[in-house]
Amino acid sequence: MRTPAAVLCGLGTSLPGRSVSNARLIEENHLDSDDRWIVERTGISTRRLADPGTSTGDLALAAGRAALDSGAELAGAPVRPDIVLLATTTPDHRCPATAPEVAHRLGLDGVPALDVSAACTGFVYATTCAQALVTAGLYERPLVIGAETYSTTLIDPHDRDTAILFGDGAGAVLVRAGTPEEPGALMAQDLGSDGGRAGLIQVPAGGSRLPHGAPGNGPRDHYFRMNGRAVYAHAVRRMTDSAREALDGTGWSPDDVEAFISHQANQRIIDAVADRLGIPAARRHGNLRELGNTAAASIPLALADTAVRRLVAPGARTLITGFGGGLTWGAQTLRFPEARPHSRSPHPHHDDEAL
Ligand code: UT7
Repeated sequence: MRTPAAVLCGLGTSLPGRSVSNARLIEENHLDSDDRWIVERTGISTRRLADPGTSTGDLALAAGRAALDSGAELAGAPVRPDIVLLATTTPDHRCPATAPEVAHRLGLDGVPALDVSAACTGFVYATTCAQALVTAGLYERPLVIGAETYSTTLIDPHDRDTAILFGDGAGAVLVRAGTPEEPGALMAQDLGSDGGRAGLIQVPAGGSRLPHGAPGNGPRDHYFRMNGRAVYAHAVRRMTDSAREALDGTGWSPDDVEAFISHQANQRIIDAVADRLGIPAARRHGNLRELGNTAAASIPLALADTAVRRLVAPGARTLITGFGGGLTWGAQTLRFPEARPHSRSPHPHHDDEAL
């Protein structure tokens, strides 16, 4: 049976404990950069960095548990997801996917669990898949997690072009069937990709195109590379167009948007998109300054932060936009959720009982 809407009914986050300022990052990694450049060009002041012992799955597990706590608090009873979607570019292993192990550690043995790979757009892609599964009547309660550990996996710590941008963390949402009028209801969406520009954001080696150790590997080919200027231009154009599509699909104008939560990559990109759409500064929310770019985790982390600080009323008309490697992009309209976000610290694999 089809249900009228999918509704966000739990919000969870998990962040590594180590907060690193621009000045400290520059000093520790011997970067030819300065705090002022980073703040002015990106809007980032600090980021949370995972210890080498903390994996993406550890963060995903903690954020997932926190979302279940939040969902149980709102529902007044324990909640059990029936599918787990994990958006990540930094899985625990090349094979298998990380989601099944996260589901197992959550006590959800037997439920389907899959990773969604769409770089920084991963959360928007995964949430749209969850929405489709719920409204088609195939699943009732998906758990969607965005989790990343760029700093310990993909980033060259000595590359100033990328090391200053990324942070680690995880955010999660619990989804259930409901009605379009409820707080948390997902409305319209727009997704897209342009694989012709895959080279603009890429880790050249380590996949089947250029396996580790194969002839042609350069010493830095296993690190993340980005053509920042070109990506910037595409991000602004694609997120603006995608947002317009999602707004049209909902029957909202930009004036109707009470909360704008974009992928947190660069404050200048966020402001350029919002300016083009005509969404005033007071309606733009995020935590880029404190967390940097956490890729697939950035939107659920920003959503939870906005809810924790009670900046937006439950039910408020909300617009989410994402952009990342692939290239991929997406936008989603929703009513701001009423769930109170919960947060948990990540714990290493062998210490699950501590959670
Ligand atoms: O999350 C996935 C999507 N990613 C994005 O959306 C990121 C998109 N791109 C960006 O956010 C920006 O392009 C960056 C923050 C990466 C770079 O900012 P920019 O304003 O585009 O700088 P630029 O690359 O045009 O470089 C401007 C100047 C250059 O010097 P010259 O040639 O003008 O002398 C760079 O060498 O800034 C220099 N520069 C730096 N200086 C100090 C570049 N990186 C740094 C640095 N510190 N870290």
